[in-house]
Amino acid sequence: MIQYVQRASSLSGSVQLPGDKSISHRYAMLASLASGTSEIRHFASSRDCHSTLGCLRTLGVDIAGTGDTVMVTGRGLQGLRAPAGMLDAGNSGTTMRLLSGILAGQTFESAITGDDSLCKRPMGRVIHPLRLMGAIVESRDQGLPPLTIRGGRLKAVRYPLPVASAQVKSCVLLAGLYGDGTTAVEEPVPTRDHTEIALRQFGAEVRQEGSWIQIEPGPTLRARTLEVPGDLSGAAFFIVAASILPGSRLLMPRAGLNHRRRELLDYLVSAGLQVTVESETEAAGEPRGDLCVRFAHSALLRELPPIRGALAAALIDEIPVLSILGSQVAGGLEIADARELRVKESDRIAAVARNLRAMGAEVEERPDGLVIAGGQRLRGADILTEGDHRIAMAFAVAGLAAEGETRIHDAECADVSFPGFFETLRCVTQPE
Ligand code: S3P
Repeated sequence: MIQYVQRASSLSGSVQLPGDKSISHRYAMLASLASGTSEIRHFASSRDCHSTLGCLRTLGVDIAGTGDTVMVTGRGLQGLRAPAGMLDAGNSGTTMRLLSGILAGQTFESAITGDDSLCKRPMGRVIHPLRLMGAIVESRDQGLPPLTIRGGRLKAVRYPLPVASAQVKSCVLLAGLYGDGTTAVEEPVPTRDHTEIALRQFGAEVRQEGSWIQIEPGPTLRARTLEVPGDLSGAAFFIVAASILPGSRLLMPRAGLNHRRRELLDYLVSAGLQVTVESETEAAGEPRGDLCVRFAHSALLRELPPIRGALAAALIDEIPVLSILGSQVAGGLEIADARELRVKESDRIAAVARNLRAMGAEVEERPDGLVIAGGQRLRGADILTEGDHRIAMAFAVAGLAAEGETRIHDAECADVSFPGFFETLRCVTQPE
């Protein structure tokens, strides 16, 4: 499906964010391993999180719900059932990598696959530590899905992560629930810590010892009632759009403000963007608050601080839309150390470069990043999303600032993380 985006004058009003995708995956998985029924409110409507629910149902978990509340009746750490068929993670790397850690703790064999995009993404990063722990994991050539996994009682390991990846960290910690002792992981740079927080909420023992994160095996996880905060990565599209369109003012209530994820806000504020947080609270270890964003005229006259090193890992999901922002500030934006972007739902470095160029911008593509010239006058173009939700939404934002019409191809992929994104955008857009 093609979505048509026209130049806009401003954005105003309030945006209801979907539930955070990362947190929803983790709550659903841990609730499945707990005893009792968990109530998860504001569960992500995203297609990815529904892939996780589908896999859990195939593993025998009873999941019911109305609206955005999901009731998950857990089966205990050892209670999952051998799946009748292949588990389908759809487009979701988080589903495949996190669930692999849990499947490695099961004595039955399971197989997990995904869509064309996911079947091109590297799984060696989870296969390697799971094999060290004693699980039998097979894949297609070069560590590509589908995976077959059989395990049981695993060997506890101390595993220094070779890549900065919350998904790999989480996979090893979840497998550590089935270890024969304390499992530990060390990160090259810190990544989102939703798994550690959620594990503690459900009753697991997770400690930080220096640079190592440790987990004790065999806890009895307890069902919880939890509310998922709004997805800050989804908010990023609206933050950038409102910041570049004169006169804009948008509210986004109850956005997740986890300290690792809010590095986005610190970055934007340091760049001069007008983003403020009000009514901050915390529930189940995850802070949340109301975001207010206004047009940021003076920031547009500057350059964005370069994104590299640990910052590139912290902002990895937001780099596509920050690239659009980079093209609109006078001094542009340089991004390095972001090679991971090449193995996301698409090669996001190539996709950003190609589509920005199609809109008339000057971009240099590098192996691990991009150099985006500033002060670009974008013109409407055909955007090839390659089915990547963040590319579709980032270029919808670009389209609001471009001359003429922008056509986002395969735009339904936005549902992977933000169902209703285009309708929501239209509701808050004032046309030219
Ligand atoms: C996620 C971790 C990140 C991120 C992805 C969600 C998670 O991936 O890009 O969208 O929920 O753990 P990596 O861990 O591969 O960096």
